[in-house]
Parts: sequence; C-alpha cells; structure tokens
Amino acid sequence: MIDALTLADLEAMAEARLSRMAWDYYASGADEEITLRRNLEAYRRLALHYRVLVDVARRDPGTTVLGQRVAMPVLVAPTAFHKLAHPDGEVATARGAGEAGTVMILSTLSNSRIEDVVAAATGPVWFQLYVYKDRARTEALVRRVEAAGARALVLTVDAPLLGRRDRDVRNRFTLPAGLDLANVDGDVVAARPGDVAESGLAAYFASLLDPSLSWKDVEWLRACTRLPIVVKGVVRPDDARRAAAAGAAALVVSNHGGRQLDTSPATIEVLPRIADALGGAIELYVDGGVRRGTDVVKAVAAGARAVLIGRPVLWGLALDGSAGVAGALAILRRELDLAMALCGCPDVASISGDLLG
Ligand code: FNR
Ligand code: LAC
Repeated sequence: MIDALTLADLEAMAEARLSRMAWDYYASGADEEITLRRNLEAYRRLALHYRVLVDVARRDPGTTVLGQRVAMPVLVAPTAFHKLAHPDGEVATARGAGEAGTVMILSTLSNSRIEDVVAAATGPVWFQLYVYKDRARTEALVRRVEAAGARALVLTVDAPLLGRRDRDVRNRFTLPAGLDLANVDGDVVAARPGDVAESGLAAYFASLLDPSLSWKDVEWLRACTRLPIVVKGVVRPDDARRAAAAGAAALVVSNHGGRQLDTSPATIEVLPRIADALGGAIELYVDGGVRRGTDVVKAVAAGARAVLIGRPVLWGLALDGSAGVAGALAILRRELDLAMALCGCPDVASISGDLLG
C-alpha cells in the first residue's frame, strides 16, 4: 500500500519515481500551461454552501453511467502510454479501476491490447477513439473494440492536431524501445530519439490522425457501430447541443487536461451553462483538475453526472501498479464520502446546484 494521504502526495512521489521523459509527458500542458493551472484553481475558488441537520449516518456515493453501475461518480479518463509508468500498463489500470468499482476508459494510444484490458477488468471498459485519416483502419479498430467487449466509444474531438507541449518538444518525446501502440498494428511513435526534431507524438498525430473530422463524422461513427458514443472535449453550449443532436449518448466537458488549446476555459466554469443548454437530454461528465472529494461534489452540483480523472491515476500506477490505481481512487472516495457527509448529502441525487451558492 502506498503511504500517501492525498493525491498531491501521490503526485510528488510519482515525480521522484518516473523518468524525466515520462513525467514531462504525463504532467505537462500546452504552451504556458495556463489552462492546466486554471482547471485546478477554478475548483479552489468555488465555495460549498453546505446543508446542516440532514441525516447522513448512511451514505452512498454510487451512481450509474450509461446504465452501468459505478461505486462513485469518478471514472478513469483515457490517457495514453501506461507502460511509461508501469510494465503491466493498462492491464494494471483496468484491475485497479475494477477494484474501485468504476469504469476504465482505454485510450486508442495504449501500450496494452484492448482484448487483454477487457479480460483483466472486473468493471466496464470504454474505448476512447482517435479517428485515422485511413477510415478503413478506423472501422477495423471499431470492430476490434466491439469484439473485445468494450461498452462505449468515447470520441475525442479536441485534438485535430496535438497541442504543443514544450517539454515534450525539448525532450523529443518518443516511446522507449519495446513499447508499442498495441491497438494499431505496425505503428511506431518515432523509432528512436533523434528521429524527430519535435515531439514524436505530435508528428504521429500530424501524419496519421484526421484533422478533417467534423460533425458529419459523428453521424458516420454512429452508423458504423451500435455502441453508445460519448463525445469528449467540448467547452461550449452550442457544441454540446450539436453533439446531442448528432446522436451522442453522453458528453464530456473537457479541455484535455490543459494539453490542447492553452488559455481555453476551466471546465468547471463552463459546466453549468452546458448543463443548462442540454437540459438533461444526454448524460454529462466533466474532467480536468479534479483532485479532491470536494471537487467531485462541486462538479456534480454544477451539473455533471460523473467526473473523469486523468493524471492521478497515472501517479498511482507509477507507484504501485494496479494497487496504486486502486489506492488513488480510494483516496478520492474517502474524501468524497466525508465531503458528502459535511454537505448534508447522503447520496449523489442530493448533491444539487444550490450547494454552489
Ligand atoms: C490525456 N488525455 C487523453 N485524452 C484522450 O481522449 N485520449 C488520450 O489518449 C489522452 N491521453 C492523455 C495522456 C496524458 C498523459 C494525459 C495527462 C491526458 C486527456 C484525459 O483524458 C483527460 O481529459 C485529462 O487528463 C483530465 O485532466 P486531469 O484529470 O489530468 O487534470
Ligand atoms: C495526449 C494525447 C495522446 O494528450 O491525447 O497526450
């Protein structure tokens, strides 16, 4: 078990453990990292107007997402390249998420095969999709994901090109020898350091992924699969309404953890307007900067059905594999339980907007 009280402790311990290239890739944001910081600071600025004299002797943070039961409204966000953190990679992450009773979203750019991840998971696995210029290849990937037993497709829409992460450019980020893209046969992210004069991942995006993706492709994807589609990466009410109209089953308000467009808004700040615009038409989730149980309460109060967490899962994974992932989620669960008690909320349904004043 890891000796960490908070996710901030976990982060400091993980920094000491990871290689410079891996730490920089995981931790960094785009450009000046203004949005990366904004996501975190926006939660700190919000106050919780707690209710008193509510019976909170019994508390249940459980909920459902797309009809699937989860132990708390916290899901594992898709993040690439888990073998930079631990040799068991995404298989360990899936075990940890299952132990915590929640959903794992597997990135297209994972170092473990979707089949192995679903086999190891005791909870639902959703698959995050990047669309390749080669649509036949994308369709083959969707077929493979369906056959493996993934329960939803998460279409990331905020990355027509990769944001510029200066730390990765300086490091000329590449995957170390022996680490593959396990879901897309034959691809490499720059074979050797020095093969690219920039981030190897940015070069991969520019050469293979499809920057022409548009709203009509959401309909194309819908026609291509029976899995529910979750649109991830929206910060505007009009885009949220378009996603619902295009047939998305759910939406993630996200700025990619501050890794794409720098100076984009903090997600918790735009969430209430997007919740209003959707009026409950489809499920709504949010990610970016959730580090405390009180942050989860704030996100739910602002209209999210659940939050996703990205980096803290990687910190847990780096420190202790699947147990570390479960440990990171347990820290958040313990904090959420206390925050709910102190807010006068025995269950998720009672976390309402008035808590934000
Ligand atoms: C990501 N994110 C991401 N998103 C996605 O749709 N596909 C991906 O492959 C990745 N890869 C990725 C790698 C790393 C190292 C990070 C930190 C993030 C974005 C991720 O899903 C999520 O939106 C953010 O991580 C949420 O912010 P926090 O919780 O990290 O602050
Ligand atoms: C990232 C990509 C892979 O944020 O989504 O690094």
